Amino acid sequence: MTDTRWVDALSAEDLPTDDVVGVVVAGRDIAIYTVGDELYATDNICTHGHARLCDGFLDGHEIECPLHQGKFDVRDGKPMCEPVAEPLRSYPVRIEGRRVVLQID
Ligand code: FES
Repeated sequence: MTDTRWVDALSAEDLPTDDVVGVVVAGRDIAIYTVGDELYATDNICTHGHARLCDGFLDGHEIECPLHQGKFDVRDGKPMCEPVAEPLRSYPVRIEGRRVVLQID
C-alpha cells in the first residue's frame, strides 16, 4: 500500500517570484516553481544528466536545463525539446498557512 502524505518543504515567504528554487524534501532534490499565482513541483535533477534544474532558466511554464538547454513543462514534467526525452516526476504542491507542502509517497 502506498503512503501518500503532505510534507513540509519551505516557508511561503521564501518562494521566488516567477522563478525556481531547489529544496530537499524527504531526502529528494525537488524544484519548486512559481508562475504568477501558480505553484508547481518536480524532481530537481534533469533526466538527461546530473544537472540541477533550479540552476536553469524558467520561462513561463518551461524550465530550461542549465547544462544542455533541454526543456520541461513544469506543470507535468513533460519533456519539450531535445536532448531530454524522459519526463520529470512532478508532485502536487500547495500552500498551507505560511508553509509550502508537497505530496510525496
Ligand atoms: Fe539537462 Fe542535458 S543535463 S539537458
